[in-house]
Amino acid sequence: MDKQHLVIFDTTLRDGEQSPGASMTKEEKVRVAKSLEKLKVDVIEAGFAISSQGDFEAVKAIAETVKDSTVCSLARTTNMDIERAAEALKNANSGRIHTFIATSPIHMQYKLQMSPDQVVEKAVSAVKLARNLMGDVEFSLEDASRSEFDFMCRVVEQVIDAGAQTINLPDTVGYGFPEEYAETIGRLIENVPNADKAIFSVHCHNDLGLAVSNSLAAVMKGARQVECTINGLGERAGNAALEEVVMAVRTRRDIFPVETSIDTSHIVSTSRLVSSITGFPVQPNKAIVGANAFAHESGIHQDGVLKFRETYEIMKAEDVGWSTNKIVLGKLSGRAAFAARLEELGTQFENKADLNEAFVRFKALADKKREIYDEDLQALVSEVQVSGSDGDKITLESLEVISKTGQLPHAELTLNYKGESYRSTSDGDGPVDAVFKAIEQLAKSNTELKLYSVNAVTAGTDSQGEVTVRLEKGGRIVNGQGADTDILVASVKAYLNALNLLANPDRLHPQLAGV
Ligand code: KIV
Ligand code: ZN
Repeated sequence: MDKQHLVIFDTTLRDGEQSPGASMTKEEKVRVAKSLEKLKVDVIEAGFAISSQGDFEAVKAIAETVKDSTVCSLARTTNMDIERAAEALKNANSGRIHTFIATSPIHMQYKLQMSPDQVVEKAVSAVKLARNLMGDVEFSLEDASRSEFDFMCRVVEQVIDAGAQTINLPDTVGYGFPEEYAETIGRLIENVPNADKAIFSVHCHNDLGLAVSNSLAAVMKGARQVECTINGLGERAGNAALEEVVMAVRTRRDIFPVETSIDTSHIVSTSRLVSSITGFPVQPNKAIVGANAFAHESGIHQDGVLKFRETYEIMKAEDVGWSTNKIVLGKLSGRAAFAARLEELGTQFENKADLNEAFVRFKALADKKREIYDEDLQALVSEVQVSGSDGDKITLESLEVISKTGQLPHAELTLNYKGESYRSTSDGDGPVDAVFKAIEQLAKSNTELKLYSVNAVTAGTDSQGEVTVRLEKGGRIVNGQGADTDILVASVKAYLNALNLLANPDRLHPQLAGV
């Protein structure tokens, strides 16, 4: 069977970032974008340029860094949005403006308060403006799965005439059902007279756990672009997971009429990078990238796999990058080897002081831990990028925790802020509780702790623990990260990281930035 190309459009940096607490700095976004480029995604939706200065800068930086993937910015149908997206993308090798407006009766009536005619007019004029500024334009009919079929046909025909080359039909609220959603896409392609001039795309949310199924069903009916995110990150229950869509198409090549250009061997490293930067852990039983995805517990399964792998495995772990977990550096590795490995992992520090800081941390880690893996380096880079050499942040100077059976744990710590040392002590219900209470006595942040989680970065008891602390204040949610072989130190780092992020307005969630 002759395969057609399935465009993989990754929106981890835009829709993924809309997960509460998943906001990323510009440097973190550039790292993810480089990893996506290595993965060979066709289109990287880098952000929503108008939503904040931080998002604009991130889209611009990604457009200037990424060479092999198309870089895209989201824009509503207003002139301001579209011009801002074009400005952010102006240095891209290949740029795309993605403009959207809602087409469902409920959105048009209550949210937009616009008539269907007004929506058509807005859509057409937005696409025309976008095409004047950029060669590649995508148009989305937001809430397509709850829109009226005839109205969608009318909008789609007119925006294609206006110059849109990709038409996206999102299941914005995750309401679609595979056969029904796919049938609508197929009928649209058949009924819109100029449908052959555009690629039809799907963008599914996972509210009913159907995002991947809906996307794949639509591919069977003619969709040739899938919008998805690493680890299924995204607004509410998330978006279709890139790794699941790609591996389904590849594993079931006997039934899919398409193929992707994804280099699947980078899937696991990209998944880990996104998880470590956002602080959203991957559940162990998550398909493809979960720690148990290729682990066989039952004796019968183990026996079968040892005799003939395909008895119980439909994919090879190494095809998605599981076996690339190898020792990369050790105690004796020098600065050049360290910098070279970081570059291979997609990190180049713009600032020499940050590279030096990272190298000092690497040496300290290598003293505690004999074998340093890529995952350790990723965790270390995340830390330097959030704390860096910036003297404006709260940092840990020292920590002592006493925890004895039958006694309340007790913490004593010293923090540094703008060159001054501050000491605090506290008891707590557990050692972590004691430590966080001691920090709060100094910080008086008035924040609410929403999540505390610890994950081992690598296998073995000398693994670094990577801690995520999610804090909320006044509707803002941030995820702080910290990694260390001592999980109490990692916990303090994560808590301080979250406090430092809350003090940084660049981290404003797009929706809180007034979009
Ligand atoms: O879910 C959605 O409808 C979106 C659009 C902006 C494409 O994210
Ligand atoms: Zn979405």
